[in-house]
Amino acid sequence: MKELTVSATFKIYEQLSELPSAVFCLMESAISARNNAYAPYSKFNVGAALLLDNGKVVIGSNQENAAYPSGLCAERVAVFQAGALYPEAKIKRMAISATSQNHKVIEPIPPCGACRQSIAEYEIRQEEKIEVYFMGEEGAIMKSESLSDLLPLMFEKSHL
Ligand code: THU
Repeated sequence: MKELTVSATFKIYEQLSELPSAVFCLMESAISARNNAYAPYSKFNVGAALLLDNGKVVIGSNQENAAYPSGLCAERVAVFQAGALYPEAKIKRMAISATSQNHKVIEPIPPCGACRQSIAEYEIRQEEKIEVYFMGEEGAIMKSESLSDLLPLMFEKSHL
């Protein structure tokens, strides 16, 4: 019997003003993207913003549906939009911010498992890491250096 230990290190910024200015700007885009969320069921608004290597910023927000599983998370709306609009571009960085219409969200909100899997596909395809910064509505921001930290032992094309 062998053991495999998987570990990851995440940076934690206590507040928005601690972020490097380019990241701060991207997070501002994610925060404003929350306003475009269509979240009448969960009342949980999520915004995501991607910086591409061509300089473009692509935003996404969660889009819900009365048939609940037909909705889509902000992060996947953003990465699929980037893939559709700029298939040659690489994603450098993603910023995510979430808020609730019912209460203040003060802890960092990480992307769900399905979104991690989807973002990881782009990281593998472009052969370059994607930084992910995520936060709630205020308070700390967490940074992941790579999807392999957020989704260790991921399923990928080499397994097919
Ligand atoms: N949501 C996201 O947009 N991203 C995530 O990573 C987690 C959840 C959305 C989906 C749904 O519209 C609402 O938040 C509540 O789950």
